Amino acid sequence: MCGIIAYRGHKSNAARMVLEGLKKLEYRGYDSWGVAARTEEKKGGVETPDIFIHKKIGKIGELNLSELSLPRSNLAMAHSRWATHGGVTVKNAHPHASLEKDIVIIHNGIVENYLELKKELIKNRYEFVSETDTEVAAHVIHSEYAKCGDLEKAVLNALKKFTGRYAFLVMSKKHDMLIAARRGSPLIVGKGENGDYFVASDIPAFRAHTDEVMYLDDEEMVVIDESGARFMDLKKNKEVTKRLVKITWDTKEAEKGAFSHFMIKEIMDQKETIHRAINQDEKLIKKVAQAIDKAFGTYLVGCGTTGKVCMVGSYLFSRIAHKHINVEFGSEFPNFRHFIRKGSLFVAVSQSGETADTLEAMEVAKEKGAKLMALVNVEGSSMDRLADISIYQKAGPEKAVASTKATTAQMAILTLIAYACAGNIVEGKKLLLETASLINDMLNPRYEDHIRTLAEKIKDVESMYVIGRGMNYPMALEGAIKLQEVSYIHAEGFAGGELKHGPIALITKGTPCIALVANDEMKNEILSNAIEVKARGGFIIGVSPTNEEVFDYWIKVPDVGNASPIVNIIPVQILAYHLALLRKNDPDMPRNLAKSVTVK
Ligand code: AGP
Ligand code: GLU
Repeated sequence: MCGIIAYRGHKSNAARMVLEGLKKLEYRGYDSWGVAARTEEKKGGVETPDIFIHKKIGKIGELNLSELSLPRSNLAMAHSRWATHGGVTVKNAHPHASLEKDIVIIHNGIVENYLELKKELIKNRYEFVSETDTEVAAHVIHSEYAKCGDLEKAVLNALKKFTGRYAFLVMSKKHDMLIAARRGSPLIVGKGENGDYFVASDIPAFRAHTDEVMYLDDEEMVVIDESGARFMDLKKNKEVTKRLVKITWDTKEAEKGAFSHFMIKEIMDQKETIHRAINQDEKLIKKVAQAIDKAFGTYLVGCGTTGKVCMVGSYLFSRIAHKHINVEFGSEFPNFRHFIRKGSLFVAVSQSGETADTLEAMEVAKEKGAKLMALVNVEGSSMDRLADISIYQKAGPEKAVASTKATTAQMAILTLIAYACAGNIVEGKKLLLETASLINDMLNPRYEDHIRTLAEKIKDVESMYVIGRGMNYPMALEGAIKLQEVSYIHAEGFAGGELKHGPIALITKGTPCIALVANDEMKNEILSNAIEVKARGGFIIGVSPTNEEVFDYWIKVPDVGNASPIVNIIPVQILAYHLALLRKNDPDMPRNLAKSVTVK
């Protein structure tokens, strides 16, 4: 969670640069923000270093940079917070400083043993102004610094004391130096011109300044000063050399363009992204299919929306290739570690490639000797680098918190692999190409208007439900997530057949119920479930290739056989978006959420 960016180099507008960069990371956390910049001003004829700190509650996107008076500085860092420890207050916002700003840090993640460390620090008379674990970390680094007077050593010693997953950036008023360390949360170093360096939790933060990056791995630290960037392997306690990687996507891909929100831009991007997703090296897809065939158990693992995609995957493999695939949410996977052994195949599915729960599940599987595969959107992400084989979703940067285009790209690729497993990749590709072009036709302004009209009708309801059967059951769960995330309407998804076992009691007059209908062998059954809901007063919204008597409102989708989960979710994404707008919510930055969930 949270956005982190820092700069050290030859320019003197470091504070402004990091704040501009932070605006590009706002999707990662947006309850408050802060900046720290090291200054050297002449006081009484002597250059006196200091650190300027400014923090604020609210979204960094709302900041008008020209209204903020920033000092000249060549070293600065900024943070947008997604609170874990302590409420959203200026005091809890980052950066956090220890005595006299000798140590100033920003932090992503959680220091799990912070209470224990805090007790020790209180004994040593450290005082606390915030409720955060981060301030504890700042004081621990300070207490180490007080012992040795060497910033690098102090950070090294302090890191040994922390448990949990995190990323830290550290600076000190006494040194023209930036230190960054990671364990579990992403940090990427950008190499600019003339000895300029950036460190950030994601590339868009500094993409305007450079296209050359180096990835920090877990248990690594980088020290940036006038002599350049030195990387350290913290486990082996020795220097390491990093490969410089060139970024191929340009800044425009991560911009909204003419759209008013990233969410709707990314929904509309689906005109092209399915096409891009399935444009894979056939040899690679076949290799993966073979690995699934040979594996002693395949596990599809993801979280949230991506977890629902994994569920769809298991239906697809069963249907198309008659293969049983296990599915787990990242956070639950460790419970099943006993079944993993050499020969098992673990497939991590993730847009960001950084989700802590999935990453940790992957580490568990690795420990047990499983082969690791990553199906990720972000190349160079932690999961990509940890995996033995990677397939990229090619959806382009996804910035809205609510995942849309990555979701359908993931499903398209899993469909393709399922067909490859059945020895029929050509048929799979043909189906998906047709689907891609039908989605292109479907996503026109009239279609969006039709869904907006529906949103106007139901915008004030308290609850709504989504039902589906077979591979559209996980999409009913996903549809509910989309509605919850951005409209804040209480929404739940159910397997059509499960309604009569309890949830149907929730239906009252006018309750909207979206039925995801595919033209398959379950069509009549899901329609019967819709009729049952209607009989209790429900307002039935049918997402279906054909209009049916039971529907009170019909949203047409193309008839695409095994690709039906891909097309069925798109109208629900559009509906969620318009409900968010009508209810005056920010669809890109919904409350309490953040993109890329790097805490457990
Ligand atoms: C999607 O709308 C959600 N914001 C969320 O459930 C997301 O899918 C989940 O956190 C997993 O993210 P990942 O794909 O980056 O691993
Ligand atoms: N645990 C820290 C806090 O609550 C960092 C949260 C974050 O990653 O934004 O401030």
